[in-house]
Amino acid sequence: MKNYITTPIYYVNGEAHIGHAYTTFIADTLARHSRLLGNETYFLTGTDEHGQKIEEAAKKLDKPTQQFADEISATFKNLWDEFDISYDQFIRTTDSNHKKGVQSAFLKMVEKGDIYKDFYEGNYCVSCETFFPESQLMEGGCCPDCGRATSIVKEESYFFRLSKYEKPLMEYYEAHTDFILPKSRRNEVISFVKGGLHDLSVTRTSFNWGVHLPDSLNDPKHVMYVWLDALMNYVTALGYGNDEALMDFWPATTQLVGKDILRFHAIYWPAFLMSLDLPLPKHIGAHGWWTRDGEKMSKSKGNVVDPREVAKHYGVENFRYFMMREVPFGQDGDFSQRALIDRINSDLSNDLGNLLNRVIGMSEKYSNFAIDSVDVLKYHSKEIDAAHTIVDTLPELFNDLQLHRYLEELWKIFTIGNKAIEEHAPWVKIKEGRTDEALATVALVANLLAKASVVLHSIMPHTTATVADALGFEINTASYNDLIVNKGLLKAFTIKKIPPLFPRVEEPLMDEAPKAMLESAPTVAAPKKEEKKESTVPTEGLITIDQFFQTSLKIGYVIEAEEVPKSSKLLRLQVDLGEESPRQIVAGIKEYYSAESLVGTQVCVVANLKPAKLMGMLSEGMLLAAKDADGLSLIRPEKPRSVGSSIG
Ligand code: MSP
Repeated sequence: MKNYITTPIYYVNGEAHIGHAYTTFIADTLARHSRLLGNETYFLTGTDEHGQKIEEAAKKLDKPTQQFADEISATFKNLWDEFDISYDQFIRTTDSNHKKGVQSAFLKMVEKGDIYKDFYEGNYCVSCETFFPESQLMEGGCCPDCGRATSIVKEESYFFRLSKYEKPLMEYYEAHTDFILPKSRRNEVISFVKGGLHDLSVTRTSFNWGVHLPDSLNDPKHVMYVWLDALMNYVTALGYGNDEALMDFWPATTQLVGKDILRFHAIYWPAFLMSLDLPLPKHIGAHGWWTRDGEKMSKSKGNVVDPREVAKHYGVENFRYFMMREVPFGQDGDFSQRALIDRINSDLSNDLGNLLNRVIGMSEKYSNFAIDSVDVLKYHSKEIDAAHTIVDTLPELFNDLQLHRYLEELWKIFTIGNKAIEEHAPWVKIKEGRTDEALATVALVANLLAKASVVLHSIMPHTTATVADALGFEINTASYNDLIVNKGLLKAFTIKKIPPLFPRVEEPLMDEAPKAMLESAPTVAAPKKEEKKESTVPTEGLITIDQFFQTSLKIGYVIEAEEVPKSSKLLRLQVDLGEESPRQIVAGIKEYYSAESLVGTQVCVVANLKPAKLMGMLSEGMLLAAKDADGLSLIRPEKPRSVGSSIG
């Protein structure tokens, strides 16, 4: 099977921001996934360099337009290279092959009788490169898309008979209900088309920076409308109008776009393709917009998030994971460092990272890093079946571009692993001499991690390759088939000890956060009371938030508890904190809690206290409790939380 994945081509009037990175991350994920499944894949991205907007931006900087376009285009390409985006081609609309391809398409449309010459008079938005009918303008004649002022433009123009395609388009939408994803966006397109399609002006004489009409038309003052030029990139990249060597990748499998340019891709583009007698793409996937700390990003506000900065401080794959996990595909999302940090600490560090650390730690202690899946099905078929049930739900979610749900489901595999360790407590089995059972649990978790890494690979390619390397295998189509399609288990191997993959992030790492960011991302939620002028908190002995975070507070799970002989106060507990082995905590709570009542409950633990000896026994932490004249109560989470979750 051949898959062709595209991003929009980015305007070169400014450098990339996180919105561009988002589309590109998703497209890269789709391309990597397709390759992992063994499909022939072609992934296209690039830059959109023509039009009045670019011409004006270059003029402002007093640069030749081509030089300006070259410079900005290179910043996009370099960024995608730094981010290891696996594109097969980076197209530029100023490439000569592209221009030739657009000219042939234009001629074909003329031959088809779909293009005619007339006059156009209308309200034109330079920023959006679009004419708008009077009825769609906002107050003061402003553009309905970007809000900027439009101007009346009257010029001779060639027109594309878009109206002719109204019916064929409607029929196509009816017959292909998953053409537009998410499906919720379909109605919006259908009602636009139902409202009636006007023929589209597809040439301009008011500027020069664009693809000129083919010489055979002998009309040199016309340049192509930038959207006709730009949309054609998806086929000129495959050789349309030239050698056509790659045209068998057409039709595209998925073309990713932001919701703002859905109309161009779901109406104009299919109509152009129908005119060219080319098949239509299988899916147009429209994602939502990113804001920053709840505000629209704009250069003037100075709150545009630079994707390079985010990647530098938090790691490109953590950033990638965050963007895809945080927001349902199609909906708008908000970027804040706090939300990103939470995802890193809880999903990546606690769930995935801890599980890997535990496997490494346990295998080191119990079997000198040797892992063998021989007994996994004997002792853990329930867990393996549960993981496979999850894995079976993933393809549909992926194909529907529901990547946040895909990740949410996938993450349940880590929960199965963490639960299995808690329930089967391999350290107890080792003590009891039931080594086979203990090693089977360790191997179970290694297998769960392996399967999860394979299905996570297209989203976090390098991180999962590192996990796979530690687990003695490589992620590729063969291992995808073994572990996922055929539901096999890992062969016997020796684990590699690697340092923790996801160090916890305690506070925002990007320094120059604009004010808006700091204001709207409080570390501790402020009560919504009327603002008080003066604080009534005593001023003595106050600590800063940083000092508070020096204490590591974690959720623990009591695995074992027993009375300390000859002590009226002490209980000795084994508490799981999501680390490679449980901690021994000696707590003075015997007068208030029986040992049995504590087993299987969650507690809050001070996890970075220096170990101490109590009655000759090592205590590796402290439980949080509140005491008053009536007694003592342990502090516990209101609802159970993952073992090892941090409190704060
Ligand atoms: N050049 C056209 C596309 C032509 S495709 C034949 C264009 N370029 S763009 O650079 O302005 O935008 C490219 C993509 O970035 C669009 O899909 C747009 O939706 C997306 N984003 C721009 N700002 C965004 C956010 N703030 N958030 C998410 N995506 C956003 O349009």
